[in-house]
Amino acid sequence: MTADRRRTSIRTRLLAAFLLVALAAAVGLSAYFLNQAESFGLRRLDESLRSEGQLAASAIEAALGTSGSGATLASDGPKRAIQSLVEAARDSTSRLLIVDARGKAVADSYVGVFSPGDEVVSVANVSSALKGKTVAGLGYQDSGRRILDIAVPVKAGGKVVGAVIASGTTFSALTVVFDYFPEIATVVVIFLVAALLLTELLTRWLTAPLRELQAGAAALASDHGVRVQPSGPRETHDLAVAFNELAEEIESSSVELHEEERRKSRFVSDVSHELRSPLTGIRLAAETLLDGDIEPTDEKRFLATIIREADRLTGLANDLLQLQRIEGATGELPLARVDFTQAARLAVEANEPLAMERGVTVSVEGEAPMVLGSRDRLQQVVGNLVDNAVRHTPSGRRVTVALSEDDGQAVLRVLDEGPGIPEPDLANLFQRFYRAQYSRDRATGGAGLGLAIVKAIVTSHLGTIEAANRPEGGALFTVRLPKLRG
Ligand SMILES: Nc1ncnc2c1ncn2[C@@H]1O[C@H](COP(=O)(O)OP(=O)(O)OP(=O)(O)O)[C@@H](O)[C@H]1O
Ligand SMILES: [Mg+2]
Repeated sequence: MTADRRRTSIRTRLLAAFLLVALAAAVGLSAYFLNQAESFGLRRLDESLRSEGQLAASAIEAALGTSGSGATLASDGPKRAIQSLVEAARDSTSRLLIVDARGKAVADSYVGVFSPGDEVVSVANVSSALKGKTVAGLGYQDSGRRILDIAVPVKAGGKVVGAVIASGTTFSALTVVFDYFPEIATVVVIFLVAALLLTELLTRWLTAPLRELQAGAAALASDHGVRVQPSGPRETHDLAVAFNELAEEIESSSVELHEEERRKSRFVSDVSHELRSPLTGIRLAAETLLDGDIEPTDEKRFLATIIREADRLTGLANDLLQLQRIEGATGELPLARVDFTQAARLAVEANEPLAMERGVTVSVEGEAPMVLGSRDRLQQVVGNLVDNAVRHTPSGRRVTVALSEDDGQAVLRVLDEGPGIPEPDLANLFQRFYRAQYSRDRATGGAGLGLAIVKAIVTSHLGTIEAANRPEGGALFTVRLPKLRG
């Protein structure tokens, strides 16, 4: 697997996310706090300018009062008062500008801006103050600082005779940023370095298990035994667990596939092996007949051989076909109520000629309950088992077919008095073409399909079959089928 270079890595994405979050947080928080600080500064300035303006206005009004009626700002008393107020303001950070009733400058603590008699138009709220109201005006200085003017009316005898304008400046959000630029830059750099470090750590922590998984997945293609160690955060841990389960599945199904392949190839070689001997027999007999020059009795014998071997081939083909049908069947078996006892008796009867020929007695004992299934096939189960038993039992001995009911099941036991089955063969008996080593001769059996057919039929009837040896000698086959209820 190759890495797709067009895709951004987890590291890049994390870094971008961190920086974005940090930037948004820094900008948002700073804007909020700077704004708060600016309003705080403005409030403080407003308070101090207001009291300054009011004090100045009161002082001038007092001077006007003591100068008698008809006194104006130009009168001696008020003039002196104004002069001393302006002098005092020159030593402070705020500015004091006094205008008369027509809005003309009387005195200004800033030297060289307004001379006495100048029209004061640049201060917008002067006209409002001259109408008797205290008004604030807010603006920006060229330097970016906030500038605030408080205009307070000066009254005498109920009439507005002028106004005092107190002005001052304070910092703004912008000036703070400029003033503290080096500090802010340092914090930003520290933050960037921290974000980079954090990204690196997180990336390692997150991607290490992913890399291990990637390596595991790449190796799995050639080695199904590969597993990874679950680690890291929950998601990668769970992913590793899921990966291991998947690998387990792949491994077991590949083993199964392998096994199935092996079974198939063995089956094909078994079938060809089984076909070869009857075909050779037929060919030899036919050749001999073709040569001519043989006794009429021998001629008959060879013809009989040909028929017998042809029958064997037919039987083999039928058995294989039947096995194939049973194992490949998907529930199309015609199901009926079957009297298992009767089926067993019929099967024993059908085996009677063989039993008589071999001098073996077959007896049926007991009763089994009704079962659900195919009569013909169940009869074949009993038939094949009895056929084996009779073939393995010496002349003069007996074979017993015992029927019973046990734990809701119909039970069939076929017992014989033969040599029994060698222990190592017990496990393989039900495989196709399996014959115990000693019984390779034709007298005791055929192709080795009988028990495979029995097992397939019993399994398709949801039953079980077991083979064992009796303590007193001889083989015992036990078939259990679910009893038909109701
Ligand atoms: N009652 C028994 N006693 C001893 N061995 C048995 C008995 N039944 C089966 N076997 C062994 O099990 C093997 C398999 O039996 P199975 O019925 O499948 O094949 P077969 O009888 O050899 O051939 P087929 O039944 O196809 O004609 C037999 O070859 C035999 O070795
Ligand atoms: Mg058999």
